[in-house]
Amino acid sequence: MSIISPSILSADLLNLQRDITEVEQGGADWHHVDVMDGHFVPNLSFGLPLISALKRQTSLPLDVHLMISNPEQMVPEYIKAGADLITFHVETAVHAHRLLQSIKEKCIKAGLAINPGTPLHSLEPLLSDVDMILVMSVNPGFGGQKFIPQTCERVSTLACRLKELGRFEDVIIQVDGGINTETIKKVYDSGARAFVAGSHIYGAKNRSQVIQKLKELTA
Ligand code: DX5
Ligand code: ZN
Repeated sequence: MSIISPSILSADLLNLQRDITEVEQGGADWHHVDVMDGHFVPNLSFGLPLISALKRQTSLPLDVHLMISNPEQMVPEYIKAGADLITFHVETAVHAHRLLQSIKEKCIKAGLAINPGTPLHSLEPLLSDVDMILVMSVNPGFGGQKFIPQTCERVSTLACRLKELGRFEDVIIQVDGGINTETIKKVYDSGARAFVAGSHIYGAKNRSQVIQKLKELTA
């Protein structure tokens, strides 16, 4: 089982409806929406109006990746706007445990993201409360960056820990950044089951073919 979540950050924003329809028909499982605030990450992207607009246009789950400071302040608004899965960064939340609970209370899936430079043990107290862990395979902020090879070891360490806790089947490990036909196999073998790909999918001439290939490699 694998989940392919194309990141609309690399779509043609002035033809977004056309682009999301194309990846849906090509077999995408989710739409990954990167929310950046110009503070936690050095870039700005989309916010609530785009999430609401997407919600009206698609029946695929919206996989919302919040790269924002003070996520506690904005999470309720993203839930109202139509997010199906909300991932915030462990580096950003003062009350991460409370925030995870408040997301799950609304019957939305709760994800926790971790930057490449943050020790994995910062996730430890929260492992029984998450639905998904997003292991960043680049430093967040931009599409089109190179996959950081140490991600594989981080994913397998996390997968082992989840197995020890009997939670490997319940918690999805997602990776985001530099995912392509070469890197996806490595992180899949390490234990990841959900894959964000922006430039590799939206930058391709034949997006369906790329999605199918990514699925075959993780079947
Ligand atoms: C990076 C974002 C990613 C980005 C991935 O901060 O979180 O979702 O869109 O882009 P690619 O697949 O091009 O590395
Ligand atoms: Zn992302």
